[in-house]
Amino acid sequence: MVGITVQDARFDQLETALLVVGIFENENDFFASNDLDSTISSAIMGLIENKEFKRSFGSTLVLHMMGRGLVKKIMLIGLGARDKFRCENARIIAGKSALKAKDLNIEEFCILPFTKADEALIEAISEGVFLALYSFNKYKTNGRKTITTPTRAKILVNSNSSKFQTVVDNADLTTQAVNYARDLGNLPPNECPPSELARFALALEAEYGIKTSILERYEMESIGLNGIVAVGKGSSNPPKLIVLEYHGDTNQQKPYLLVGKAVTFDTGGISLKPGDKMDEMKFDKCGGCTVLGILKAVASLGLHVNVIGIIPSVENMPSSSSYRPGDIIRMYNGKTVEILNTDAEGRIILADAMAFGVAKYNPQSIIDLATLTGACIIALGSNVAAAIGTNKQLAERLIKASEETGEKIWSLPLYDEYHEQIKSTVADIKNIGGRPAGAITAAAFLSNFTNDIPWIHLDIAGTAWTQEGTFDRSYNPKGATGFGVRTLVKLLTNDTHI
Ligand code: BES
Ligand code: ZN
Ligand code: ZN
Repeated sequence: MVGITVQDARFDQLETALLVVGIFENENDFFASNDLDSTISSAIMGLIENKEFKRSFGSTLVLHMMGRGLVKKIMLIGLGARDKFRCENARIIAGKSALKAKDLNIEEFCILPFTKADEALIEAISEGVFLALYSFNKYKTNGRKTITTPTRAKILVNSNSSKFQTVVDNADLTTQAVNYARDLGNLPPNECPPSELARFALALEAEYGIKTSILERYEMESIGLNGIVAVGKGSSNPPKLIVLEYHGDTNQQKPYLLVGKAVTFDTGGISLKPGDKMDEMKFDKCGGCTVLGILKAVASLGLHVNVIGIIPSVENMPSSSSYRPGDIIRMYNGKTVEILNTDAEGRIILADAMAFGVAKYNPQSIIDLATLTGACIIALGSNVAAAIGTNKQLAERLIKASEETGEKIWSLPLYDEYHEQIKSTVADIKNIGGRPAGAITAAAFLSNFTNDIPWIHLDIAGTAWTQEGTFDRSYNPKGATGFGVRTLVKLLTNDTHI
């Protein structure tokens, strides 16, 4: 694992194996605007003038210093146009730099902040490095033997290094939680039934003192969590309801309720999915993994908020004990649901978990995260999550946090008309609403279980893992992305009053 230190060393005393220098396009004062040795600066100017280095966003050129001075290599990296450069660009460039250092078998490298250092920029650079160097090699027999990954990185600033070091250390804790969520999300379905996710939750209790309880199938049956039981009963791996309680606020503030869908494998059940890409349905647990990641982050950062995490976990399988199209289920809050497609299982387990959380914890607000619908990907693609809910203010706070983290979220409406699509002729509601606005009718279904508490549903079907259409970002290696951890941690941090 890489560690990052912020240094305000004098430039001419800097010793590093690789110095990363970002350069904006169309700026010819590079020579004047940096602290580099004048011979090196003019050599770089020459490379730019000869078009050997183009400065387009993400382009790189590595220069060997041949033993002159304390810097062994310099990597030029193009930053594109200055007026388009945001924190997200810094995150991508920092991640790319870390991966380049890894390619070059370099253990230690140093980044010059690309523009004037402030907390948001230092946070983005650190996140880019920490997240890009993640890899999932648990099942590679010869794992990491041959590859050197950087273990030390420096960020050079002119002042305030201790303030910035705190920012880096918090980014370290947050990204460790993202990488933990990725590790869980990437587990293959044979190795990660609901009981295994429950074990991971209990390990959080051991490590951070987060109060954790696991409801077994018979307990769920006895208290009427019939939705979770119905979806889970087709598998020989029994369902679990994982409940985590973090009390960081001593003023008895009402908790946030976070609910995460954790279908450890979604075959569709009796309404079986086609075989193509069915393997990707191991990622159908990512909402739950994100909630585990958020609790880990919140506890390790010691945030002064109260958070309840509820993770309904099941495996959706076809068998003689599966639930069926045509079944009618009485849910935890007493509403009845007509099942018309067993592949629309996520909303059923989430609905029960939300109703349970509302009844037991009286939360101030609810946010659920779920790889809920293919329709979300049709609507917004694979780089943007949908936010749908009943509270404009909460949605705005979430979207503001997402603008800071670069995890893109777009609001979709929940007009009354959408509720018509899920009316059932035989029960209160049905579990599918037809093809039009599929992501929204799934949310309309969920709204029946929130008891009018401010609530936002995040559909992360397109963003929870890298898939067809995913934009290539250095800091999102292939597989589970941990999408949502950083944004929710940001939202909760913004709400922390010490
Ligand atoms: N887990 C899937 C949603 C999904 C599909 C996420 C593909 C990411 C990629 C969910 O349980 C599901 O199957 N939803 C159905 C709902 C439909 C039957 C109303 C879907 O989206 O097709
Ligand atoms: Zn499904
Ligand atoms: Zn699913």
